[in-house]
Amino acid sequence: AKNVGILAMEIYFPATCVQQEALEVHDGVSKGKYTIGLGQDCMAFCTEVEDIISMSLTAVTSLLEKYQIDPKQIGRLEVGSETVLDKSKSIKTFLMQIFEEHGNTDIEGVDSTNACYGGTAALFNCVNWVESRSWDGRYGLVVCTDSAVYAEGPARPTGGAAAIVMLVGPDAPIVFESKLRGSHMVHAYDFYKPNLASEYPVVDGKLSQTCYLMAVDTCYKHFCSKYEKFEGKQFSINDANYVVFHSPYNKLVQKSFARLMYNDFLRNASSISEDAKEKLAPFSDLCIDDSYQSRDLEKVSQQVAKTLYDEKVQPTTLIPKQIGNTYTASLYSAFASLVHNKHSTLAGSRVIMFSYGSGLTATMFSLKLNEGQNPFSLSNVAAVMNVGIKLKSRHEFPPEKFVETMKLMEHRYGAKDFVTSKDTSLLAPGTYYLTEVDFMYRRFYSKK
Ligand code: ACO
Repeated sequence: AKNVGILAMEIYFPATCVQQEALEVHDGVSKGKYTIGLGQDCMAFCTEVEDIISMSLTAVTSLLEKYQIDPKQIGRLEVGSETVLDKSKSIKTFLMQIFEEHGNTDIEGVDSTNACYGGTAALFNCVNWVESRSWDGRYGLVVCTDSAVYAEGPARPTGGAAAIVMLVGPDAPIVFESKLRGSHMVHAYDFYKPNLASEYPVVDGKLSQTCYLMAVDTCYKHFCSKYEKFEGKQFSINDANYVVFHSPYNKLVQKSFARLMYNDFLRNASSISEDAKEKLAPFSDLCIDDSYQSRDLEKVSQQVAKTLYDEKVQPTTLIPKQIGNTYTASLYSAFASLVHNKHSTLAGSRVIMFSYGSGLTATMFSLKLNEGQNPFSLSNVAAVMNVGIKLKSRHEFPPEKFVETMKLMEHRYGAKDFVTSKDTSLLAPGTYYLTEVDFMYRRFYSKK
């Protein structure tokens, strides 16, 4: 198969959200801490009628309908998630309900888990399958679904919720440059979920930021050396039209892009102007460990990166700023923002993607875009995702009601023998919702 990549996408996020500005007031933190300090505008969350299974049922059904894909045409289904509702039964098996109905149970793939990286692992599995000898000519389907919730405290405003579905096959408008991948995987305790009775992670916030930035650096180094090996010339940020990051919160994305510029400076790459060279010169001998702690370097490199950030990164930030960190879906929601904002001018672009999952696993990889052909064209993907309308038609909850919802969900997590309110008044038609968890922990869903 040739030009393997993403043919189609759909995104679903809950219509319920809370404004970060209102949360600042409610939490009693200084004004601007979440909106400027973290760079976040709004946060989506699941109420008691939605979860990672209902969101992915909604997104998969919608993708198949809107692109008119016969469910029999799916040969592989891979799910990335770090939200645990069952320690054995995969989310993929819940989604099989959609395919069983059409007589298709011949579908490979299960779930992949490592924090926010599982979606990327799932996507690579599908792309590799289509490129391999075991491919049977059908499509691969990748689902990234997560509900990111944190205990009360500084991490809580970095939550979010969404499901993203991607159809994978040959002759795609979004093609993988499969040789251009740089990974960095090591053992770290920066963010993990050892308490199986709670949905909340244990987070070492400062360490997680440093781990993320170290992974950016290391992946970029590996990526550049692969590029140089295969293309025979040096890679610089100028060779990327857009750079898309896993986005726990926007401030970290700003810092990460500045870090790439600093890397280019240290490598004496062509993207660094004379003026930028002069500004960064005082940091040329900084040892790498100190470079993560230096506020001056952070400030200067962000200044130097500002123009290129506005051009190459800003168009990717809309959805992550509006719905928050969606873990496995986060990177792809940033990519969806780019398609939403720029679909008519993306043909010919190279997009560099950075995926990060705490613990930790990270990969930088490259996509080449072309307009494609209907229904698998960039403009149709943008039309189907319909991001503008989805964002506009949301319902803002006051922070008190958000906190109340979090409390209820704490009790519901791991519980059995309850029915939900079945209140669908805030759900769009076609949305799946949780109705009941019975005495044997079996979960039941309906469709509005
Ligand atoms: N106006 C403007 N900026 C402000 C204000 C204000 N009133 N108050 C604080 N700030 C700034 C701070 O200066 C800081 O900016 P800086 O990073 O440029 O220094 C920023 O807001 C954050 O404030 P801090 O006090 O440093 O951090 P906080 O205790 O709020 O915690 C953190 C932030 C660590 C990100 C926390 O939310 C967290 O643990 N989140 C979850 C972990 C996470 O997302 N890690 C990222 C990678 S791992 C993953 O994807 C899960």
